[in-house]
Amino acid sequence: MSLAALRASVRRVGAVAPAARASRTGLRNPAFRRFSTEAPQTPKKTSNTVLFGALGVAAVGGVAFWVYASNSDSAREAGSAVRSGVQSAKAATNFTPSKEDYQKVYNRIAEIMETAADKGYDDGSYGPIFLRLAWHASGTYDKETNTGGSNYATMRFEPEAKHGANNGLHIARDLLETVKQEFPWISYGDLWTLAGVAAIQEEGGPKIPWRPGRIDGFETQCTPDGRLPDGSKGADHIRAIFYRMGFNDQEIVALIGGHALGRCHRDRSGFEGPWTFSPTSVTNEFYRLLLNEKWVWKKWDGPKQLEDKTTHSLMMLPTDYALVQDKEFKKWVKAYAEDEQLWFKDFSAALSKLFELGVPESQFVTREPWILKSTDEQEQK
Ligand code: HEM
Repeated sequence: MSLAALRASVRRVGAVAPAARASRTGLRNPAFRRFSTEAPQTPKKTSNTVLFGALGVAAVGGVAFWVYASNSDSAREAGSAVRSGVQSAKAATNFTPSKEDYQKVYNRIAEIMETAADKGYDDGSYGPIFLRLAWHASGTYDKETNTGGSNYATMRFEPEAKHGANNGLHIARDLLETVKQEFPWISYGDLWTLAGVAAIQEEGGPKIPWRPGRIDGFETQCTPDGRLPDGSKGADHIRAIFYRMGFNDQEIVALIGGHALGRCHRDRSGFEGPWTFSPTSVTNEFYRLLLNEKWVWKKWDGPKQLEDKTTHSLMMLPTDYALVQDKEFKKWVKAYAEDEQLWFKDFSAALSKLFELGVPESQFVTREPWILKSTDEQEQK
């Protein structure tokens, strides 16, 4: 058994006490309106002049340089078009991070993920909430206006952090802030998406090709509320939201399999409970349960959600259930329920694409995405 599998099974043992979990959830302070990061300081008047000169040229896989722009919006836009991700290494150190440096960040994120067990958090891992943060940071993308997406990490700012869909994500942002302090050269968008990659790879899922290059943006780049999906809706809504990002039906079904991990929290979304019996392991159990279990509407005072008829301990959102009510979607649910490797392959491709939404190609520090090593692989050496 691999270490990741062992760790996951240890967590699973701890994951079978729903009552204890529920009371922990109830005890947690739902302080979901806090912000992990202050808005950046407006550049000082003295540096207002646009210094459109390459202050540093970095050669990580080719094109990589950064420019220090003024605080005018148009200059910012122009600046960000040519700045590369290593802009975040500007910290006057002339430091150009290498793949090994990003691997160090990955390793630190993986370590923090595991500290959840000691803290009695959820099912013993911060992986699920890291994945949700990475997806919500990216899923605001609108292909028509080419706005939103993971580039500017705008959830650091109050307007976007306060969007109802992002309730509870301050927990992930706060934890990752400690990583940012340790590796100040990484941009928030890179940090958050890397945490999503680590969540999948550390919890037994496929490798997620990833590249750095996102830059930190400004509050003015926050997206309007309503770009993320509403769990109480059906297939039309799902399509409207994900087509806007540029995904097709197959990719939509593959992506929503992210609900292999984690659970809903009453004090965050109003919904309650996990989707599977192993919420800290990436498996295709979500599709198998969706297809083979009998799902009934839960009788309770909360929002409409489904529960499994057999144990009443699992849940599905109306949007999850829509995947087996819609013919086109159901085709893919069946395919993924029957073939976990097929889902791993499609999930990996779709997640990589999701995490790069809104990031201009010129910003990436490498053309070929990187596959970072899991901690398991590193320990086996
Ligand atoms: C129709 C699309 C989707 C809807 C309506 C939806 C909705 C939700 C809701 C309501 C929660 C519960 C939040 C809470 O109470 O803590 C949740 C959690 C989660 N979602 Fe989604 N989601 C969707 C797609 C996705 C996708 C594409 C991914 C990743 C690829 C994802 C990953 C997660 C994870 C990992 C959690 C668990 C978080 C935790 O345990 O703290 N979701 N989602």
